[in-house]
Amino acid sequence: MSATLRLALLLLAVAVCQGYQSNDIDEEDELVYEPSKYGSLWPLPQKVRVSEVSFKLPSASFKIVDAKESSAGPSCSLLQNAYRRSEPLSLLIREENCLMSTDELTVDQPNAVLKASKVWGALRGEALNKLPIITYTKPQIRPCMCNIIRIFSCFTVYLLKQEAMAMNKFNVFHWHIVDDPSFPYLSRTFPQLSQQGAYHPYTHVYTPADVKMIIEFARLRGIRVIPEFDTPGHTQSWGKGQKDLLTPCYSGTTPSGTFGPVNPILNTTYSFMRQLFSEISSVFPDAYVHLGGDEVDFSCWRSNPDIQNFMEQQGFGQDYSKLESFYIQKLLDIVTTTQKGYMIWQEVFDNGVKLKPDTVVHVWMGNRVEEEMQNVTEAGYTTILSSPWYLDYISYGQDWQKYYKVEPLSFKGTEAQKKLVIGGEACLWGEYVDATNLTPRLWPRASAVAERLWSAKEVTDISDAYSRLSMHRCRLVERGIPAEPLFTSFCPHEYKGV
Ligand SMILES: *[C@@H]1O[C@H](CO)[C@@H](O)[C@H](O)[C@H]1NC(C)=O
Ligand SMILES: *[C@@H]1O[C@H](CO)[C@@H](O)[C@H](O)[C@H]1NC(C)=O
Repeated sequence: MSATLRLALLLLAVAVCQGYQSNDIDEEDELVYEPSKYGSLWPLPQKVRVSEVSFKLPSASFKIVDAKESSAGPSCSLLQNAYRRSEPLSLLIREENCLMSTDELTVDQPNAVLKASKVWGALRGEALNKLPIITYTKPQIRPCMCNIIRIFSCFTVYLLKQEAMAMNKFNVFHWHIVDDPSFPYLSRTFPQLSQQGAYHPYTHVYTPADVKMIIEFARLRGIRVIPEFDTPGHTQSWGKGQKDLLTPCYSGTTPSGTFGPVNPILNTTYSFMRQLFSEISSVFPDAYVHLGGDEVDFSCWRSNPDIQNFMEQQGFGQDYSKLESFYIQKLLDIVTTTQKGYMIWQEVFDNGVKLKPDTVVHVWMGNRVEEEMQNVTEAGYTTILSSPWYLDYISYGQDWQKYYKVEPLSFKGTEAQKKLVIGGEACLWGEYVDATNLTPRLWPRASAVAERLWSAKEVTDISDAYSRLSMHRCRLVERGIPAEPLFTSFCPHEYKGV
């Protein structure tokens, strides 16, 4: 979609979002900094027990080692890597095997023992900061996305971002890798897509090696990478390198020279998608791909006589959402043959497209959010909520409080329905973001979302959050992440060594 269209929709989203949250979120609280009994712990674990006893961890004798009983051991490179990255904090790691999930850290002087049944759990534990005794329970999926393509930016920004994601326990990177302005993904099957459709064919593309590196860097930090190849809208850049893929728009009875969404009436469209998604399924190892399906503008389809004929043949009348569903249905069938699961934006569900039972419906629109969550889960689909967390929409003041106070399960529904909410996602769209401002715009505002999704529902004390988040933000700064301040303040170690 065009930047203007996106902007309009976002304004709408935020306006209504505030309605959705209006019970308690209209005004930010005035907060006074007081130390928290949990120190700088962020996000707060499901259970914390603070002990009266404290003891020193001398950095000289500090070591992270595999416990004898650990079945992971030195051959688990994920863990060995994590130990090396870890700050000097004394832990004895004990794990059941290299694939673990519920985690627990207990302190037994002079050792601390981290137990986890999956290695991913141990990675979260590894990121623990100075703290006494902790029990973690099962984490939710918390994707963190940003569509760098609108901005194009260098790898250091990506890598820094994933480092910060891990520090905040985000575990999915939703990579909105192509969109209207640019197609930077270098496809082996269709190299002309980025050759013609990227900002620059060599300097502004993601080569197969680049993509591999991003995925591996993320994996080492326990972060999954889910790519989004959004169609049939948001595809202007695709049309530059792939003839006949987009629908020619008409002005009266003649083609106007402009193009609309993917052309859903040509067989060639589907053979192209089959080949492209076959490649994507092997390049991206995650079990899911995001197929988009948002904001399809029907005006071009409406203007095209061939499309009109097709609509008539199919008996769609003037209902272009039926044509969109026709396309999506075929695309979903194609992706199913690649053995991947899929995520889709909510419009696909709203239009009544037949979805596989394991589809993840991504709720993003700002109007009637609770009703949408209710409908999606009533239909039995898992869902991820983004509506309240569009971090690209900035405002004056402590907007982290607004993100923090959202309760994602506040919609009407049974316990079974609530269980289908598998997580939430903080979105940062890139119209006004590039490498110069990505990091401070994201952190620590996204940290507020992280705690809402990681911690227990009852963790809502905003003053306590302010205290811990202020310290957490300083920790981010200290570790080289330029996170913006919550309010007038300073960090003890600010800019040390710069
Ligand atoms: C497109 O494929 C369908 C189904 O395989 C076939 O019936 C139809 O003739 C094809 N159309 C063209 C233009 O090749
Ligand atoms: C939820 O479903 C009801 C019943 O089908 C429908 O009337 C309503 O518009 C839906 N809500 C949203 C937000 O789509």
